[in-house]
Amino acid sequence: VRVLAVASEVYPIVKTGGLADVAGALPIALKAHGVEMRTLMPGYPDVMRMLAGAQEVWRWPDYFGGPGRLLAGTRDGLDLFVLDVPHLYARPGNPYVTADGTDWPDNGVRFAALARVAADIGHGLVSAFVPEIVHAHDWQAGLAPAYLHYDNRPRPGTVMTIHNMAYQGKFDRALTGAIGLPGDASFDVNGLEYFGGISFLKAGLQFADRITTVSPTYAREIQSDEGGMGLGGLLRERASVLSGILNGVDVSVWNPRTDPLIACRFDADEMSFRVANKATLQQRLGLDLLTDAPLLGVISRLSWQKGLDLLLEAIPTILGEGMQLALLGSGDAELQDRYREAARAHPRRIAAVIGYDEALAHLIQAGVDALVVPSRFEPCGLTQLCALRYGAVPIVSRVGGLADTVSEPATGFTFGPVTSDNLSAALRRASLAFHDKPAWRQLQLTGLATDVSWRNRAGEYAALYRGLMASRRMA
Ligand code: ADP
Ligand code: GLC
Repeated sequence: VRVLAVASEVYPIVKTGGLADVAGALPIALKAHGVEMRTLMPGYPDVMRMLAGAQEVWRWPDYFGGPGRLLAGTRDGLDLFVLDVPHLYARPGNPYVTADGTDWPDNGVRFAALARVAADIGHGLVSAFVPEIVHAHDWQAGLAPAYLHYDNRPRPGTVMTIHNMAYQGKFDRALTGAIGLPGDASFDVNGLEYFGGISFLKAGLQFADRITTVSPTYAREIQSDEGGMGLGGLLRERASVLSGILNGVDVSVWNPRTDPLIACRFDADEMSFRVANKATLQQRLGLDLLTDAPLLGVISRLSWQKGLDLLLEAIPTILGEGMQLALLGSGDAELQDRYREAARAHPRRIAAVIGYDEALAHLIQAGVDALVVPSRFEPCGLTQLCALRYGAVPIVSRVGGLADTVSEPATGFTFGPVTSDNLSAALRRASLAFHDKPAWRQLQLTGLATDVSWRNRAGEYAALYRGLMASRRMA
């Protein structure tokens, strides 16, 4: 099976969140299942730098208002198409927002341009790679199934994957003309129309042959009005083509036996080395060097989704139980300030590193006793999967992929509904268990034995592609 994936970020080239991890790991895992996947992404400056030497396969004198090229290249085992359109993508910093954190005003055109070329590759633009399926990730790629639909030509099959329902790619209806969609036809409740404007995510959900999301529980949650965030009705209508496939993690990047970013490597037989990682982490963050105090960790974007305001409210519990906290995160300015403040007030017990730091993320996984993920909603979540693999016991809310990957009492602590009281209660249960050494060790070992790799999950995507192709052949 030949599949074109379309994603706005791909690890290790550009990453702002878990989407990049998935887009970077899935193509490699799919090779073992006989799926040949190439990934189309925008040519941001980092991408252009890392793909120096890529081959030009197409050139436009004017692509959405300026010259553009399509490049083909490989990097870290990934086969990539890069859309190099300098007036849209040659901008420093984050792929989606300006330096002060507001969306680029032309995001609609920027990601329409990406989806347009995806559809064209679907029609055979690049003879060396004519996909049988176009697989779009999140709203940034959501127009690809819509273009393929409105082009009204023989087309490849289409799959739309939702990584996060909260980001819907909403724009003014006037955009349809500028991006080459049939204005009147597409501005319809059965098209892109969404509360008076248009939504790129809705476009993908409306027209894709198959819809997936990143956990079975989230696939159910988004069919409700609350979880669907405005698109629940559409998803209920399309329930027969909607499924949830859990994410995995790249177990070569996240391997405590070989991880070059941690102080002391370990595995299930040599878990005692975690103590050295804990000490290194405490030292580095200026925390008291205590071995018998449970050290909690957080690695997260700081956004409402992640529920980290609830953890701030649980600080009295953390202190009362004699626990420590190491938080690494960035995002919402108010949350950043509040965590900095908490760390200033309790420097030896609470540390907050505001920023994005991959090496520190690995050390936290290797050194903390428990990893806290109190999300209000979580499509899948990857940090709890890494935690299982690193012997950091997850303490998570019982939502989305967290509910599907952590279970109490086997591998961690779970709580719901998502309130700070319920979180505090879970922290107290964890604290109690921590002081029962054999019980805690059993939790860690069960976690370490859990399969969090992509191997089987990639097989589910391969089966989905094959099923889709078979049903199209029959039609
Ligand atoms: P989301 O995609 O909603 O942000 P996920 O749990 O799916 O959540 O993925 C987050 C990814 O980003 C994980 O690989 C995590 O380790 C990483 N990450 C998040 N915040 C940071 C940070 N501040 N520093 C380093 N890595 C981070
Ligand atoms: C999103 C979700 C997260 C998921 C990731 C990768 O960013 O918030 O839960 O793990 O996508 O699918």
